Amino acid sequence: MNINEARKYLEKLKKEINYHRYNYHVLDRETISAAALDSLKNELFALENEYPELITSDSPTQRVAGSPLDKFEKAKHSRPMISLFDSFSETDMFAWQERNENYLARSLKEKYYCELKLDGLAISLHYESGLLVLAATRGDGQVGENVTTNVKTIQSIPLSLRKPEAKELEAVGFSNLEIKNIFNLLESGVIEIRGEAIMAKKVFADLNKKYLNEGRPILANTRNGVAGSIRQLDSQVTTERKLDFYAYDLLLGDYERGEVVDTKEKLDSLVRLLGLKVLVDNAVCKDLETVFSFFKKVGERREKLPFEIDGVVVKINNLKMWPILGIVGKAPRYMMAYKFPAEQATTKIKGIVWQVGRTGALTPTAILEPVAVGGAIISRSTLHNFDEIERLDLRLEDTIIIERSGDVIPKVITVLKNLRSGNEKKITPPSVCPMCSGKVEKVKDEVAYRCLNKHCFAVSLRQIIHFVSKGAANFDGLGPKLIEQFMASGLIKDAADIYNIKKADLLSLERFAEKKADNVIEMISLRRELDLARFIYGLGIRHVGEETALTLAEMISNQGKFPSKTLTGKVQLSDFLKISDLTTSLQQKTEEDLAQMEDIGPIVAESIYTFWRDKKNLMVLEKFENNGVILTLEKKSKNKSKNNALTGKTFVLTGSLSSLTRDEAKDKIRALGAKTKESVTKDTDYVVAGESSGSKYDKAKILGIKILDEADFLEMIKL
Ligand code: IVH
Repeated sequence: MNINEARKYLEKLKKEINYHRYNYHVLDRETISAAALDSLKNELFALENEYPELITSDSPTQRVAGSPLDKFEKAKHSRPMISLFDSFSETDMFAWQERNENYLARSLKEKYYCELKLDGLAISLHYESGLLVLAATRGDGQVGENVTTNVKTIQSIPLSLRKPEAKELEAVGFSNLEIKNIFNLLESGVIEIRGEAIMAKKVFADLNKKYLNEGRPILANTRNGVAGSIRQLDSQVTTERKLDFYAYDLLLGDYERGEVVDTKEKLDSLVRLLGLKVLVDNAVCKDLETVFSFFKKVGERREKLPFEIDGVVVKINNLKMWPILGIVGKAPRYMMAYKFPAEQATTKIKGIVWQVGRTGALTPTAILEPVAVGGAIISRSTLHNFDEIERLDLRLEDTIIIERSGDVIPKVITVLKNLRSGNEKKITPPSVCPMCSGKVEKVKDEVAYRCLNKHCFAVSLRQIIHFVSKGAANFDGLGPKLIEQFMASGLIKDAADIYNIKKADLLSLERFAEKKADNVIEMISLRRELDLARFIYGLGIRHVGEETALTLAEMISNQGKFPSKTLTGKVQLSDFLKISDLTTSLQQKTEEDLAQMEDIGPIVAESIYTFWRDKKNLMVLEKFENNGVILTLEKKSKNKSKNNALTGKTFVLTGSLSSLTRDEAKDKIRALGAKTKESVTKDTDYVVAGESSGSKYDKAKILGIKILDEADFLEMIKL
């Protein structure tokens, strides 16, 4: 983007943000989720960073907080109602602790106090001589709105503070002097309690049901329900909304933090004794590790909680530390909002891939500019069918809002059409199948476009399953079900595509949590180095089984070492073989050359010959190489000693061995220069008979072939 394009785009972005901000902050109407709005603001911030000369004083990035509504009397806060810094990961939290330690120039051994971060509206309550005289919203942090009348309808807010018994305060750990000071403030001082006004999920659902019946506009979410109830002038409406209030802070007259109450835990106990509600979930955590397990447990309970929360607020429990650490910019150093990942974000559509399902139905998947949403980086989103593209009026390069919560697959919620530049491109369904180039048609009365080639999906599926199977690339844990899911979601069309799968792609699929995605990615990276014979076998060339693949691999290995370039560009002889070298090597062979090799007859030779000349196959081979697959040359054939007593011998395995799998046994045999065969003939030298061996054993007996039990075999391969 050049500066002129940036200027134009910035204007559109600011207009869009301002429109949603106005609705949200002034009209209490949510026209876009807070998370999606944040995402747009981040984009604006990044662009302004790139072009600082384009920052204007009215840019939304230059604004600190909301402003109070004119319809309310203003209320100046005695101490500013500041904001909180946000963290989204354990790394962020460690960085926060480290910043504090650097600031103090010493290690910080303080305990933390973890509280649920309620998603409502911050309210400050002023009690003079124990009586509620003022309730104010946060406003811009300095001046809020006087919403006393409305707040007085909240049943859990006492109109006068409870006077605790001295012994109740003693039991919590207050000294006589501290108790005296508290009593004095209750008698003739100012006590300020800050907390969050909330709407329970059940109240929200019931109200919306009622509004729907009455044909009234429904509430967008609980936070909006609270704000809309408190920041309007009819206190009857507030009563109807059945709000609740939980306190999270207490300011005692002019006392410094830590002076009368020394820990946040004790502060909560005092607030309870004064007659207000404090969340029972709050807890002291001895270090960040304990904070993380608190956060995890809360995350697991989040759905079941009766109210909405958007994270945990982590505070240093020792209140004496608060003035020492102080405030930086808009928020204090001594507490941190550790937030759950945002479930919506904005990003751009970079492309569309059409996946072909089992039934031949073509489904579009949007390829996205990678974006963090719902705790993961996402790079694709299914669009279900072409109708969905038309319904959203989706075009390439459009900015969209994407949503992902928990492990649910991400979906495109809406297109932000106001941000279009005019260069967006219409999306059309493909005319031929992306998998088999077969004819595509829209079936009458159906939403789906279909590939008319009945075998399209099944053939490719079978080929890929063969490639990942045990005898070939041996992808443990990448079974047929997963392969089918990858294909059905358009992630892979052939085996080479497996090596291009990214974690973000997997997280975009159904039933893919973080851990499973990590395991698959690790498996793929481990299988980037493949044994030549296994690779050839995995290609699924007609008539080329494991033995023939081995013959071909040995022939290639015996041609000597292969040159490969090192990072410095020097040519080096290596034990690795590039796929393009394999292709060249096999393309040099005529059908006759191939037919002269051991175990290869004219039919097999023709099949091999044709395979290495087929355009589609060559493209897949090239893709394997581009995706970083490299072949290892058989160590075993190089180690093969002419003196080895087993060189050239033929083994047949039957039954199961207890210390080796069949594949491992085969590998050992081949490493010693011998061969394995599937059936017993007069040319068989040894039959290895494991547990419950069957007809092969009987045949070996009849033919008088040497039969080895497991112990004999292990002894023999020690050679
Ligand atoms: S302490 C310096 N504790 O989160 C601000 N805030 O994102 C002190 N909130 O404006 C706030 N639960 O309205 C604190 N347990 C909790 C909270 C909490 C919700 C809200 C609060 C604040 C906002 C900041």
